[in-house]
Amino acid sequence: MTIHDKLQRLEEMGRAAEQGGGADRIQAQHDRGKLSARERLDLLLDEGSFVELDRFVTHRSSDFGLEDKKILGDGVVTGYGTIHGRLVYAYSQDFTVFGGSLSETHAEKIVKLQEMALQNGAPIIGLNDSGGARIQEGVVSLGGYADIFLRNTLASGVIPQISVILGPCAGGAVYSPAITDFVYMVRGTSYMFVTGPNVVKTVTHEDIDMEGLGGADIHASKSGVAHFASDSEPECLASVRDLLRYIPQNNTETAPSSEGADPHDRRDEKLLAIVPDNANQPYDMHEVIQHVVDDGSFYEVHERFAGNILVGFAHLGGHPVGIVANQPSVLAGVLDIDSSDKGARFVRFCDAFNIPLVVLEDVPGFLPGVAQEHGGIIRHGAKLLYAFAEATVPKVTVITRKAYGGAYDVMNSKHIRGDVNLAWPQAEIAVMGPKGAVEVLFRKEIAASDDPQAATDARIEEYREKFAHPYIAAARGYVDDVIDPRETRPRLISALDMLRNKRDENPPRKHGNIPL
Ligand code: HXC
Repeated sequence: MTIHDKLQRLEEMGRAAEQGGGADRIQAQHDRGKLSARERLDLLLDEGSFVELDRFVTHRSSDFGLEDKKILGDGVVTGYGTIHGRLVYAYSQDFTVFGGSLSETHAEKIVKLQEMALQNGAPIIGLNDSGGARIQEGVVSLGGYADIFLRNTLASGVIPQISVILGPCAGGAVYSPAITDFVYMVRGTSYMFVTGPNVVKTVTHEDIDMEGLGGADIHASKSGVAHFASDSEPECLASVRDLLRYIPQNNTETAPSSEGADPHDRRDEKLLAIVPDNANQPYDMHEVIQHVVDDGSFYEVHERFAGNILVGFAHLGGHPVGIVANQPSVLAGVLDIDSSDKGARFVRFCDAFNIPLVVLEDVPGFLPGVAQEHGGIIRHGAKLLYAFAEATVPKVTVITRKAYGGAYDVMNSKHIRGDVNLAWPQAEIAVMGPKGAVEVLFRKEIAASDDPQAATDARIEEYREKFAHPYIAAARGYVDDVIDPRETRPRLISALDMLRNKRDENPPRKHGNIPL
């Protein structure tokens, strides 16, 4: 054979590998509103940047008629490329090949990529579309999953790991995405569940379809398993590309800066009008964020889950920050089980990846109630407290209105190593709100009064005068300054610039024991 014959053979094999399960099966994907494994990589990565690895790998199984059914690549396309010019590793499961099911060799390809990503310090993105463990391979396939889970765990906090669910993801297979940092789903085509509708029906007699049990909307709003839900695959993959603007390559680097047109010293008049004079009226904290960050651009994470806290990325003065904000327009911004979990996980991501935290605080406390107490609000609330307390990245807080009770401590107070804490003049920093306080302190006096309502109002007014302002905290240095709300943007940028070289360390230990 001449080199030309050999090149021709290589070309033919390359073409065969690219076909996956064949044109008919790719058409079937399209008919379901799904893209092929390679089309997805094309949308995810910078044009022409993808370099494939292991395209000639085939399975080793000879059971159940698999011996003469070998398809190059074995159901997963793996390799590396760039997003916005920066290196990422990506794998894309190919549903047209044995339903994207995971064989020994399929797992080995993913593991190889995980190890490369870890060794070379770049994010890894998994595009999941799979029927789960390759049934014909039995325990070998289960072992393959465990090999992946282990690498997911070892890479956690070292490189960003992103899971995109673009088809079924069932059984134990869900635990790889669950360990990763961000999970994206697409409405109508992607599903995650530990057991599907049929098993649910048999065991609990509940009748539910795939979308209702584990579709994108359920996981993005109810379970919190997914951080993002999109209407289409192109929209979803574009959103993943956007995320990469805010995060670093690994835990030894900082996230890339991006210089926009928004002046660093911009005062914003609108910030005076957002918080209502009446402290019991809600407002939308999104508006505050929008008027403070660069170009009003906020990449919100977990947008539809636990709306009483907002988390997401933005740039301030060109540098990425993680924002954690109470949301007064949902449950008055109270902290509950889900919002504590949501906030804690985000804070830990930012801390692991050197992204400074900006906290906007308006919190009336923790949510009272039997369901919350029995659901473990103590355990869950402790996660957020722990996450803020252990974080060593620059941490800046602005108290826009209420900072009551334990929630004052939790939301990145100075006492748990908040670096710079600022308050707006409307801030109310106290053990509890005026009404609750008066009911505890003056219950007997009010009951004995001729006019209980007037007595209550008088005491509330007195309490407000005494406690419902930021100056007691400021007198002690618990807030560093009380600022004009219009100055929030320049003050935050200045604080973050001042903290740019912050060095802080926790005591040496194997690891802490965050209350899970
Ligand atoms: C081998 C599989 C497969 C699997 C699908 N296929 N899943 N082959 N192992 N796990 C094959 C089918 O035989 C079929 O091949 C092709 O892929 C497409 O599948 P269809 O069933 O025709 O597609 P669809 O109707 O869209 O249904 C998709 C599906 C269904 C819902 C994913 O295939 C399914 O229920 N598969 C089994 C899912 C499952 O129970 N997996 C194990 C989960 S437990 P042909 O050649 O006929 O077209 C698990 C444990 C993880 O994964 C372990 C972690 C510790």
